[in-house]
Amino acid sequence: MIVLGIETSCDDTAAAVVDESGVRSDVVWSQSLHERYGGVVPELASRAHAEQIVPVVRAALTVAGVDRPDAIAVTAGPGLMGAVLVGLCFAKSASVGWGVPFLGVNHLEGHLLSGLMEPVVEGAGSVAFPFLSLVISGGHSTLYKVLALGRYEVVSETVDDAIGEAYDKVARMLGLGYPGGPLVDRLAGLGKPTIAFPRPRLARLVPGTAERAPVDDMSFSGLKTAVRTAIERDPGLTSADRAPDVCASFQQAVVDVINDRVRQAARASGIGTVLIGGGAAANEGIRAGLLGLGLRVVLPPKGRCTDNAAMIAHVGRLHLLAGCPPDPLFRTAQARWSV
Ligand code: KG4
Ligand code: ZN
Repeated sequence: MIVLGIETSCDDTAAAVVDESGVRSDVVWSQSLHERYGGVVPELASRAHAEQIVPVVRAALTVAGVDRPDAIAVTAGPGLMGAVLVGLCFAKSASVGWGVPFLGVNHLEGHLLSGLMEPVVEGAGSVAFPFLSLVISGGHSTLYKVLALGRYEVVSETVDDAIGEAYDKVARMLGLGYPGGPLVDRLAGLGKPTIAFPRPRLARLVPGTAERAPVDDMSFSGLKTAVRTAIERDPGLTSADRAPDVCASFQQAVVDVINDRVRQAARASGIGTVLIGGGAAANEGIRAGLLGLGLRVVLPPKGRCTDNAAMIAHVGRLHLLAGCPPDPLFRTAQARWSV
């Protein structure tokens, strides 16, 4: 089954073609127009998606050598409502025009299972259920237990900032630009973790009960505030020669929290395989930290961690092959949608 994937949930216009042989094309047009605003401007994102969606889809089909796919998988949420709607409306139109089914896919599920797509950088070979999957992006930071396709349990999640969001905010404090994740990551590699930032522990409450789960939740807002306080006390920390140490110290705190939660989850569940996905999964320190845990870690290439349509096509294809019915034309977008 040849599936065209479409992703427009935030600031990347993306299309990809996936079939049984793997990813045949993977085109991402990143909207650099938001850089001057220091963050994504939703209305501008929607307009840019509307301008780029046709050439991006055409490029994905051309590279794959496909005239007409067997099905379309499209991000239906969560994300910026207007942005998601551009991709969804385009997918519906193409579905009618080609006479092929379409399926709305949860963007988070795309990240969650992106480690199952070949090739992977580390941990190649078939991955069997159950496994753990860590999704760390600009809006989410959640560790899931994946029991089967469509059966996901939250093991630990952030109670405040997402990891990518914390990176972006720290980058802004240091005057580095947007998106900040890759910039802080690069500087962290040049510095040393000389500043002791906090590593919070938050007992995870089992939803609907007063019981504590065996794995703690995550929090990154206090860490971000600690960086801000340190800079306010000593503005010299933003200088070119000291910012690398701030980045390295912040990154080491993030890595320690993640490693601790993954280690706890592996111990509590007896599951020894961990997948990672989402934009912050492209982070060098986080990738290296997980590889040092002694677990089987599956790392997608960095381009499959940040937003892409191959992960959407991949997940849509898995569901369609498992017998999931395609969506009706009145399927709408969901700005909020947990897996
Ligand atoms: O998954 P993604 O492309 O979009 C969302 O679904 O949010 O993630 C984007 C986020 C941004 O916050 C960006 O700064 C962060 O991922 N990010 C990184 C790195 N590359 C992207 N964070 C830390 N280190 C990186 N190398
Ligand atoms: Zn994403």
